Amino acid sequence: MIKIVYDIKVYREVLKNNIKEDDVVVELGCHVGNSTRIISQMAPHGKIIALDKSPQSEEKMHELIKEEKSSIEFIKSDVRLHETLEEVAEKVNEIGGCDVLSVDLGGGYHPDTTFKVFFIWSSTLKPRETIIRNRGLLDFLHSASSSEIIKSNNGWLESCGDDGIPTRLKELKLWSHKL
Ligand SMILES: C[S@@+](CC[C@H](N)C(=O)[O-])C[C@H]1O[C@@H](n2cnc3c(N)ncnc32)[C@H](O)[C@@H]1O
Repeated sequence: MIKIVYDIKVYREVLKNNIKEDDVVVELGCHVGNSTRIISQMAPHGKIIALDKSPQSEEKMHELIKEEKSSIEFIKSDVRLHETLEEVAEKVNEIGGCDVLSVDLGGGYHPDTTFKVFFIWSSTLKPRETIIRNRGLLDFLHSASSSEIIKSNNGWLESCGDDGIPTRLKELKLWSHKL
Protein backbone atom coordinates (compact mmCIF):
# COMPACT_ATOMS: atom_id res chain seq x y z
CA MET A 1 0.00 0.00 0.00
CA ILE A 2 1.01 3.61 -0.57
CA LYS A 3 -0.19 6.11 2.02
CA ILE A 4 0.05 9.89 1.63
CA VAL A 5 -0.30 12.22 4.61
CA TYR A 6 0.58 15.80 5.56
CA ASP A 7 -0.04 16.27 9.30
CA ILE A 8 3.00 15.09 11.27
CA LYS A 9 0.73 13.50 13.90
CA VAL A 10 -1.06 11.52 11.20
CA TYR A 11 2.32 10.55 9.71
CA ARG A 12 3.48 9.12 13.03
CA GLU A 13 0.14 7.37 13.61
CA VAL A 14 0.37 5.74 10.17
CA LEU A 15 3.94 4.63 10.94
CA LYS A 16 2.72 3.08 14.22
CA ASN A 17 -0.13 1.26 12.50
CA ASN A 18 1.88 -0.15 9.64
CA ILE A 19 5.28 -1.21 10.98
CA LYS A 20 5.67 -4.78 12.25
CA GLU A 21 8.18 -5.88 14.88
CA ASP A 22 10.71 -7.44 12.52
CA ASP A 23 10.37 -5.00 9.62
CA VAL A 24 13.25 -3.49 7.70
CA VAL A 25 12.39 0.22 7.40
CA VAL A 26 14.12 2.81 5.21
CA GLU A 27 13.35 6.33 6.45
CA LEU A 28 14.14 9.20 4.06
CA GLY A 29 14.33 12.56 5.88
CA CYS A 30 14.74 11.49 9.51
CA HIS A 31 15.90 14.98 10.68
CA VAL A 32 16.71 14.59 14.43
CA GLY A 33 15.04 11.19 14.78
CA ASN A 34 11.67 12.02 16.36
CA SER A 35 9.86 9.57 14.06
CA THR A 36 12.87 7.22 13.96
CA ARG A 37 12.34 6.66 17.69
CA ILE A 38 8.75 5.56 17.01
CA ILE A 39 9.84 3.34 14.12
CA SER A 40 12.50 1.75 16.30
CA GLN A 41 9.93 1.02 19.03
CA MET A 42 7.54 -0.53 16.50
CA ALA A 43 10.29 -2.69 14.93
CA PRO A 44 12.40 -3.88 17.91
CA HIS A 45 13.55 -6.99 16.02
CA GLY A 46 13.94 -5.26 12.67
CA LYS A 47 16.39 -2.83 11.15
CA ILE A 48 16.06 0.88 10.39
CA ILE A 49 18.15 2.73 7.88
CA ALA A 50 17.52 6.44 8.44
CA LEU A 51 18.87 9.09 6.07
CA ASP A 52 19.15 12.86 6.11
CA LYS A 53 21.52 15.40 4.59
CA SER A 54 21.08 18.02 7.33
CA PRO A 55 24.05 18.96 9.57
CA GLN A 56 21.55 18.97 12.50
CA SER A 57 20.88 15.26 12.17
CA GLU A 58 24.22 13.59 12.86
CA GLU A 59 24.71 14.22 16.58
CA LYS A 60 21.04 13.67 17.50
CA MET A 61 20.85 10.47 15.48
CA HIS A 62 23.97 9.08 17.19
CA GLU A 63 22.45 9.92 20.60
CA LEU A 64 19.25 8.12 19.58
CA ILE A 65 21.17 5.05 18.42
CA LYS A 66 22.86 4.86 21.84
CA GLU A 67 19.57 5.37 23.71
CA GLU A 68 17.37 2.99 21.77
CA LYS A 69 19.97 0.20 21.51
CA SER A 70 18.05 -1.04 18.51
CA SER A 71 19.23 -1.66 15.05
CA ILE A 72 19.21 1.89 13.68
CA GLU A 73 21.78 2.93 11.11
CA PHE A 74 22.09 6.59 10.18
CA ILE A 75 23.46 7.68 6.81
CA LYS A 76 24.17 11.38 6.26
CA SER A 77 23.48 11.75 2.58
CA ASP A 78 21.35 13.38 -0.09
CA VAL A 79 18.60 10.95 -1.06
CA ARG A 80 18.44 12.41 -4.60
CA LEU A 81 21.86 10.96 -5.36
CA HIS A 82 22.26 7.71 -7.25
CA GLU A 83 25.09 6.54 -4.97
CA THR A 84 22.90 6.97 -1.87
CA LEU A 85 20.22 4.70 -3.31
CA GLU A 86 22.86 2.23 -4.50
CA GLU A 87 24.41 2.03 -1.00
CA VAL A 88 21.05 1.48 0.71
CA ALA A 89 19.84 -1.02 -1.92
CA GLU A 90 22.96 -3.15 -1.32
CA LYS A 91 22.44 -3.05 2.45
CA VAL A 92 18.76 -4.01 2.37
CA ASN A 93 19.32 -6.75 -0.20
CA GLU A 94 21.80 -8.38 2.21
CA ILE A 95 19.11 -8.55 4.92
CA GLY A 96 16.19 -9.76 2.82
CA GLY A 97 14.77 -6.52 1.40
CA CYS A 98 12.86 -3.46 2.53
CA ASP A 99 9.41 -3.83 4.15
CA VAL A 100 8.52 -0.18 4.72
CA LEU A 101 9.76 2.98 3.00
CA SER A 102 8.91 6.32 4.61
CA VAL A 103 9.50 9.61 2.81
CA ASP A 104 9.37 12.95 4.62
CA LEU A 105 11.56 15.54 2.94
CA GLY A 106 9.52 18.33 4.58
CA GLY A 107 5.72 18.14 4.40
CA GLY A 108 5.29 21.35 2.43
CA TYR A 109 8.23 20.95 0.05
CA HIS A 110 8.30 20.28 -3.67
CA PRO A 111 5.82 17.51 -4.49
CA ASP A 112 7.72 16.96 -7.75
CA THR A 113 10.98 16.12 -5.94
CA THR A 114 9.16 14.07 -3.33
CA PHE A 115 7.39 12.07 -6.04
CA LYS A 116 10.62 11.45 -7.94
CA VAL A 117 12.38 10.29 -4.77
CA PHE A 118 9.39 8.06 -3.89
CA PHE A 119 9.22 6.63 -7.42
CA ILE A 120 12.91 5.80 -7.77
CA TRP A 121 13.43 4.49 -4.23
CA SER A 122 10.21 2.45 -4.13
CA SER A 123 10.65 0.92 -7.58
CA THR A 124 14.16 -0.14 -6.56
CA LEU A 125 13.50 -1.37 -3.00
CA LYS A 126 9.95 -2.66 -3.63
CA PRO A 127 8.60 -2.20 -0.10
CA ARG A 128 5.35 -3.70 1.15
CA GLU A 129 4.28 -0.24 2.37
CA THR A 130 5.31 3.29 1.50
CA ILE A 131 4.30 6.25 3.65
CA ILE A 132 4.82 9.69 2.11
CA ARG A 133 4.43 12.98 3.96
CA ASN A 134 3.75 15.75 1.45
CA ARG A 135 0.99 18.34 1.18
CA GLY A 136 1.13 18.81 -2.62
CA LEU A 137 0.83 15.09 -3.34
CA LEU A 138 -2.11 14.84 -0.93
CA ASP A 139 -3.76 17.81 -2.67
CA PHE A 140 -3.15 16.16 -6.07
CA LEU A 141 -4.56 12.84 -4.88
CA HIS A 142 -7.84 14.39 -3.77
CA SER A 143 -8.12 17.00 -6.52
CA ALA A 144 -7.52 14.78 -9.54
CA SER A 145 -10.11 12.42 -10.94
CA SER A 146 -10.19 9.85 -13.71
CA SER A 147 -12.55 7.36 -15.28
CA GLU A 148 -9.72 4.80 -15.57
CA ILE A 149 -8.28 2.82 -12.68
CA ILE A 150 -4.68 1.64 -12.47
CA LYS A 151 -3.84 0.57 -8.92
CA SER A 152 -0.96 -1.07 -7.04
CA ASN A 153 -1.21 -3.25 -3.96
CA ASN A 154 2.39 -2.83 -2.80
CA GLY A 155 4.40 0.18 -1.70
CA TRP A 156 5.56 0.90 -5.27
CA LEU A 157 3.90 1.48 -8.65
CA GLU A 158 3.43 -1.93 -10.22
CA SER A 159 2.33 -0.34 -13.54
CA CYS A 160 5.83 1.11 -13.96
CA GLY A 161 7.52 -2.26 -14.30
CA ASP A 162 10.66 -3.71 -12.88
CA ASP A 163 13.48 -1.42 -13.90
CA GLY A 164 15.73 -1.88 -10.85
CA ILE A 165 18.18 0.83 -9.87
CA PRO A 166 18.03 3.44 -12.60
CA THR A 167 21.21 4.59 -14.27
CA ARG A 168 22.44 8.03 -13.25
CA LEU A 169 19.70 10.55 -13.95
CA LYS A 170 20.83 13.63 -15.86
CA GLU A 171 17.72 15.52 -14.82
CA LEU A 172 18.85 15.48 -11.17
CA LYS A 173 21.09 18.41 -12.10
CA LEU A 174 17.97 20.41 -12.93
CA TRP A 175 16.39 19.99 -9.51
CA SER A 176 16.16 22.80 -7.00
CA HIS A 177 19.09 23.21 -4.63
CA LYS A 178 16.78 24.65 -1.98
CA LEU A 179 15.61 21.40 -0.43
C1 LIG B 1 10.30 17.82 8.12
S1 LIG B 1 11.91 17.19 8.28
C2 LIG B 1 11.62 15.49 8.67
C3 LIG B 1 10.96 15.26 9.97
C4 LIG B 1 11.00 13.82 10.43
N1 LIG B 1 10.58 12.91 9.38
C5 LIG B 1 10.10 13.63 11.63
O1 LIG B 1 9.09 12.95 11.49
O2 LIG B 1 10.46 14.17 12.69
C6 LIG B 1 12.48 17.03 6.63
C7 LIG B 1 13.89 16.52 6.55
O3 LIG B 1 14.15 16.14 5.21
C8 LIG B 1 15.52 16.37 4.97
N2 LIG B 1 15.77 16.39 3.53
C9 LIG B 1 15.18 17.21 2.60
N3 LIG B 1 15.68 16.93 1.38
C10 LIG B 1 16.58 15.94 1.53
C11 LIG B 1 17.44 15.23 0.64
N4 LIG B 1 17.45 15.53 -0.68
N5 LIG B 1 18.26 14.27 1.13
C12 LIG B 1 18.25 13.99 2.46
N6 LIG B 1 17.48 14.63 3.36
C13 LIG B 1 16.65 15.58 2.91
C14 LIG B 1 15.78 17.70 5.64
O4 LIG B 1 17.17 17.86 5.92
C15 LIG B 1 14.92 17.58 6.90
O5 LIG B 1 15.67 17.16 8.00
